[in-house]
Amino acid sequence: MATNAAVPAPRQEARCPVTAPRAPREVDLAEAEDFITQFHTETTPAETLEGRLHQVRSEIDATGTYTHTLDELTFGARVAWRNSARCIGRLYWNSLRLRDMRHVESPAGVATECVEHLRDATRGGRIRSTITVFAPDRPGNPGPRIHNEQLVRYAGHRTASGKVRGDGRNTDITDLARALGWQRPEPPGRFDVLPIIVSSGTCAPEIFEIPPDAVLEVPLSHPDHEWFADLRLRWHAVPAISNMPLVVGGVTYPAAPFNGWYLGTEIGARNLVDADRYDLLPVIAERLGMDTSSERTLWRDRAMVEMVRAVQHSFDAAGVTMADHHGESKRFLTHVAREEKAGRRCPADWSWIVPPVSGGLTPVYHRYYDEPDPELRPAFISPQRTS
Ligand code: ARG
Repeated sequence: MATNAAVPAPRQEARCPVTAPRAPREVDLAEAEDFITQFHTETTPAETLEGRLHQVRSEIDATGTYTHTLDELTFGARVAWRNSARCIGRLYWNSLRLRDMRHVESPAGVATECVEHLRDATRGGRIRSTITVFAPDRPGNPGPRIHNEQLVRYAGHRTASGKVRGDGRNTDITDLARALGWQRPEPPGRFDVLPIIVSSGTCAPEIFEIPPDAVLEVPLSHPDHEWFADLRLRWHAVPAISNMPLVVGGVTYPAAPFNGWYLGTEIGARNLVDADRYDLLPVIAERLGMDTSSERTLWRDRAMVEMVRAVQHSFDAAGVTMADHHGESKRFLTHVAREEKAGRRCPADWSWIVPPVSGGLTPVYHRYYDEPDPELRPAFISPQRTS
């Protein structure tokens, strides 16, 4: 297996907190054929279907796997997005940009290209949907893997009192980073960007700091309440999922980070609000002078709307791309209609598509969708573990 000579040997092996290396098997010929056929049905490649199938079969015969053309890989990644039943933002699936980094597999190389991905996708706030595809699994030779669930995540520091400072979702990955030698800021903060943790095929995770200038963040303020800025809340501009393997035509790309742009509710109604994340509604309600003595005053509901307003206002003021749940819901139904017209199923998971505030005010609430199909390919699949 190719490793970068500058990378230290996997000393952590014995006490490595993530599970044993995977041992990828031969590509399933039928899956490969199905994909190549789909590619030729939906697009008009230069070579003939028969010719390409012949090539793919002999390559699998000889090596146990095959190499996608750039067009096949781009199509595969786009269709994987189109097949993502939980994503409301699929209208633009066919414009996903692909960074072909299949030749990169050393942890240091992967980390460097993840940072480039962030710069390239962020563009000062005019965010572009982008995927970077690293080396695939090959028989007996697993590809690299990114342990973080997103390229940018805030640390969740466990404190002596049993509480968490920062994002409660990320305590485990924060522990892992520290076990691998991460020097966290002192004193630990609420919005400390975690290092990227990458292993090459074998179990040897390594940590890489992200240069601060590659992480665009938006300080949060409220359009009506000046005190809001004093809370010193912020969020990063780019959501880039990094732990979902991309599976195309029987080939698994375990490291294939992809990003879109945020929907205000993801931050304003979940990340900053969930009780096991930043749990900020009581703080907002108190500053707004609300009566929190009973749930029936609906103080949580009211505070949540103000939080979402602050998030949207701040991203707009900073010139950073952000969708809102009303617009995005309408766009999603346009997508569903287009898919139907193209004669395709459009699987969707209602509980993920409907926004976490004002569900019934959006058109996506008032209907059902094609059942998600876990076997559908190409796909981004659930991580085997999230460390
Ligand atoms: N909900 C996740 C977060 O808040 C991001 C998931 C992907 N979202 C997106 N708009 N592409 O970080």
